[in-house]
Amino acid sequence: MSTPKHIPLIETKKLCKSYFNDDLETPVLFDIDLVIERGEFVAIMGPSGSGKSTLMHILGFLDHHTKGQFLFQGEPATKMDEDTLAKIRATRVSFVFQAFNLLPRTTVFQNVLLPLLYHPTIPAAEREGRVQRAIEAVGLSERSTYLSNQLSGGQKQRVAIARALVTQPEVIFADEPTGNLDSASGTHVMAALQALHRAGHTIILVTHEQSTAEHAERILKIYDGKITDDLRSFKRRHAKDGITIEK
Ligand SMILES: Nc1ncnc2c1ncn2[C@@H]1O[C@H](COP(=O)(O)OP(=O)(O)O)[C@@H](O)[C@H]1O
Ligand SMILES: [Mg+2]
Repeated sequence: MSTPKHIPLIETKKLCKSYFNDDLETPVLFDIDLVIERGEFVAIMGPSGSGKSTLMHILGFLDHHTKGQFLFQGEPATKMDEDTLAKIRATRVSFVFQAFNLLPRTTVFQNVLLPLLYHPTIPAAEREGRVQRAIEAVGLSERSTYLSNQLSGGQKQRVAIARALVTQPEVIFADEPTGNLDSASGTHVMAALQALHRAGHTIILVTHEQSTAEHAERILKIYDGKITDDLRSFKRRHAKDGITIEK
């Protein structure tokens, strides 16, 4: 018997992206070759304007690439029709943004419930339990009935993480999730993402800060739209299991 061919979660081949405004083409990403496996915690690092958000939006189906290939679970994105794309956006990927994007004057519970209301397959009877587990996973069970505007920035971002988690997506994308936070709150948010990673989730984090990227086990560096480094850390992978290894 032959072993089935390995299919990575995400694969790009010579992926390029240009923005077009009127007749003006702005090339932003160049020949991105990338493989991301299930369960990885990857940080995409680079200076402002280097194309980090653009790459993440393409990998998360919020935008289209313009050349090359993007395969999600082996399926080419360019072959997917609008229905398939809508379903992937609702069920297989989730986003956490720098600005939290919570509904104001709405409870933590209601905010986390929201993605389930649009979910095509999770039954209504499962909603409450899923919401409670997601809120618990980010350590906010005691705040479940608070309004989002009664929370600190770090707590708001943890609610956004719970909301991203509640559908049990294939990948959680986080774009500068600590960018609006003081360093103590940022550390809490990164701890929450690390806990999700340990529980088996795939996390793709965008940041321009080395200290934030250090939480991941793999750092992709991007500069002027090209990948310049792809660093995997054995040390980082083991340090988080409580084994102290010098840096
Ligand atoms: N809609 C757009 N139209 C034209 N250029 C854009 C658009 N969005 C982003 N860009 C440009 O693409 C480049 C990369 O942007 P972005 O991916 O947001 O970078 P980063 O997230 O690394 O700061 C920047 O030069 C930016 O000005
Ligand atoms: Mg950005």
